Amino acid sequence: MKKIQPVKGFSKLSKQAKIEWLINNYSLQPDKALDTIQGYLHQDVSVQKLHDEFIENTISNFYLPFGIAPNFLINGQLYAIPMAIEESSVVAAASKAANFWLERRGFKTTILSTRKVGHVHFIWHGQNHETLFHFFENIQSKFYENSQAITRNMESRGGGIADLKLRDKTHLEPGYYQLEAQFETCDSMGANFINSCLESFAHTLQEEMATSALLEGDDRQLQIVMSILSNYTPECLVRVEVSCPVEEINEGSGIGNQEFAEKFCRAIRIAEIEPYRAVTHNKGIMNGIDSVVLATGNDFRAVEACIHAYAARNGSYRSLTHAEIVDDLFVFSMEIPLSLGTVGGITSLHPMVKFAHEILGHPNAQGLMQIVAAAGLAQNFSAVRSLITSGIQKGHMKMHLLNILNQLEATDEEKLKIVDYFKDHVVSFSETVKVFCEIRGISQEVFAARKGH
Ligand code: MEV
Repeated sequence: MKKIQPVKGFSKLSKQAKIEWLINNYSLQPDKALDTIQGYLHQDVSVQKLHDEFIENTISNFYLPFGIAPNFLINGQLYAIPMAIEESSVVAAASKAANFWLERRGFKTTILSTRKVGHVHFIWHGQNHETLFHFFENIQSKFYENSQAITRNMESRGGGIADLKLRDKTHLEPGYYQLEAQFETCDSMGANFINSCLESFAHTLQEEMATSALLEGDDRQLQIVMSILSNYTPECLVRVEVSCPVEEINEGSGIGNQEFAEKFCRAIRIAEIEPYRAVTHNKGIMNGIDSVVLATGNDFRAVEACIHAYAARNGSYRSLTHAEIVDDLFVFSMEIPLSLGTVGGITSLHPMVKFAHEILGHPNAQGLMQIVAAAGLAQNFSAVRSLITSGIQKGHMKMHLLNILNQLEATDEEKLKIVDYFKDHVVSFSETVKVFCEIRGISQEVFAARKGH
């Protein structure tokens, strides 16, 4: 490994200089690396400039496939859902579930609440705890007044500060209190709005305390630790449900309707009681959720962190979905927190994100929450259906076949022949190599030697 010196002022270098420094120091094949980096630059310089300015030190772009899962009937409206994801079977699975439920009255979704939350975390070692609460109540109006410049716009859209509370956390950490603020952020995810409000509250708190007539001496001292929104939003909740009579579950896998419904419910119960299964089960749900969140320009890291915390809210990590048979009705549902935006961030900047919003009919934030939740439930339905019937690998490997063929550098003609062969054979890497070598007329040993395997 080459000895590399740290670089100073990297962000100030031109893009070209950054690329040169990078590939000369870190790439074994600088020419090839340069081709790759440049090959992924956008041809339209204005689009490339947008990308360059989204983050620091952009040297190229990173593409993901942008797929469409059509036929999602949600509350009586038909959607074609955009998904940005690399995993081969996800869009196919979502589409399959969408078609299945299209015939069975579709997805029903409800927004349960839309509150966001943030905190000013501070330390106060004063003696009279009750006086602190009294002081806090007395200055409530100041928090609103002093943050007017930030909240005016949001208020005109129907949002703003919804509640302010003082929380005593001294049992967890000496002197630890929180100003807990709740917000309504309308169609924006609201991170910048919330953080700006919180920083204003922190300032007000400090200023008012320093001059408060209620507090004296050292009791006027507080230390602001930090002011930041919480990505845990258990009160920004959406519910999604599908249901049909058990006799209509007829999913064509060869097992009876009742048996299918019962097996399905048991699989969900296992994910409710067994964290090892729950994580994989919820990962499948996130396949659907993340891909729509990403395609619509939302913060998938925040969504992930929040949903997993929610899945563990009762002390153990559990399935996000639930299934039951109620009076011969199969009911499959999920309730999840989703803090999303349809304005702000990159929603009006990134051309593909703008397109994703367009094909969804420019939903508001609540509309998008419902679409994303439906994609998550659909994904889980398809995964569990495969798991309890044919197994997951049949469909998964069929979708993965093209990746294997691309890895083998098969021609289009070879691909057609091999895909045809696997219509009635089980896909595996070794079987694909075998068939590929037969079609190409070379031995597997020769192929391995050429590939350096
Ligand atoms: C694969 O990405 C997701 C699944 O493992 C989900 C599941 O097991 O439910 C198929």
